[in-house]
Amino acid sequence: MGILPPKIGVALVGYGYWGPNLARNLVESGDLRLTTLCDSAERRRAAFARKHPGIDVASDFDHVLLNPKVEAVVIATPPSTHYALVRRALEAGKHVLVEKPLARTESQARELVELARRLELTLMPGHTFLYSPSVNKVRDLIRDGTLGEPYFVTSSRMNLGNYQPDGVVCDLAPHDLSILLHWLEEPVVQVAATACSVFQSDVPETAFISLRFASGAAANVQISWLSPRKVRQMVVVGSKRMIQYEDTSADASVRVYDRGLEFDQPENFGEYRLTYRTGDMVAPRIEAAEPLALEMRDFARAIRTGEEPLSNARLGLEIVRAMDAASLSLRLNGAPVDVGVSKVGTGAGRPMRNGRRNGNGHSNGGDHQREGVGVIVPGRLGDLP
Ligand SMILES: NC(=O)c1ccc[n+]([C@@H]2O[C@H](COP(=O)([O-])OP(=O)(O)OC[C@H]3O[C@@H](n4cnc5c(N)ncnc54)[C@H](O)[C@@H]3O)[C@@H](O)[C@H]2O)c1
Repeated sequence: MGILPPKIGVALVGYGYWGPNLARNLVESGDLRLTTLCDSAERRRAAFARKHPGIDVASDFDHVLLNPKVEAVVIATPPSTHYALVRRALEAGKHVLVEKPLARTESQARELVELARRLELTLMPGHTFLYSPSVNKVRDLIRDGTLGEPYFVTSSRMNLGNYQPDGVVCDLAPHDLSILLHWLEEPVVQVAATACSVFQSDVPETAFISLRFASGAAANVQISWLSPRKVRQMVVVGSKRMIQYEDTSADASVRVYDRGLEFDQPENFGEYRLTYRTGDMVAPRIEAAEPLALEMRDFARAIRTGEEPLSNARLGLEIVRAMDAASLSLRLNGAPVDVGVSKVGTGAGRPMRNGRRNGNGHSNGGDHQREGVGVIVPGRLGDLP
């Protein structure tokens, strides 16, 4: 057996709701060593110290950055703080794993991506679902052709959620967007969103987001903190199969349905024929692994090798771009907003499938053009005031 490389010293910043999950995975990691916990709230530092005696605690982030034993930081503070904290950490020469979303605006995210690139540091947004074995099983079924041509995806992510000032789009949409970009492997070109704000006009608890992808594939995402029970369900409908992914299901999180509708093109107008296919349902075996543990391992690998992690900064930027478009659409009462054709991919590098129908039933030849998608709002996000 070879000599194991020394563990990478890490400071965790933020020990609120999510931080304890990261702390546990850092402590259990074979690659990373949790040297310091930083939280501005005394109560949260005390909670950490009770659980993890012997690990340093600190209140001042800049002080933590001066510690040479801290080679990387994991940031789990509210989204409004991400940009400033990530920037300071990168400027101090630290690798960064920041919880989703990477930043609050596209321009902030772009600046961070550029800074990390220039300083040759790993910048990884924590899109945990990319490390979910169930999510990756669906991605495999799309990649290997089992699904056929993806037509559309519906997603419901709802529960009686934790009310936060950033609103439900900032809290939950990054999950759907990361999964959709991972599955479809093509950029979002158009977003339309409407929302309900029951308690404060600028803090939606529920949102309905429609997405159009470069090839014409569509997705409809409903997210809410006002729901009687937890729902985490996505359905991908393709030309050969339909796949249901249910994160809350204990034993059958992925179900593959051999169901669909065949449409025979008519010789004469009105003579079309439909055939319904109602075959078997298969629930493939999914390996058991904790996504956060895999995410930590990938962070360490990226730091050591200089390669991009699966959840990479360009993907984080792509997600923030789509969220910016959703926010603009909300302000425009649901008008579709053109995200622009992105050069940013998911990092996976799979070529586009050709010849898919776009939203108007025309073939776009897979050339990333938005012809016929029906842009209503003039200008792109880059033109935002
Ligand atoms: N990947 C996931 O599934 C998942 C789930 C939940 C939350 N999150 C993300 O985790 C992050 C944190 O969310 P949360 O729900 O735990 O928030 P939270 O408000 O419960 O906790 C944030 C903590 O950060 C501390 N903090 C704030 N500013 C600080 C600063 N400048 N320096 C040091 N400490 C500071 C606060 O005192 C608090 O303890 C968010 O980005 C959220 O989107 C991810």
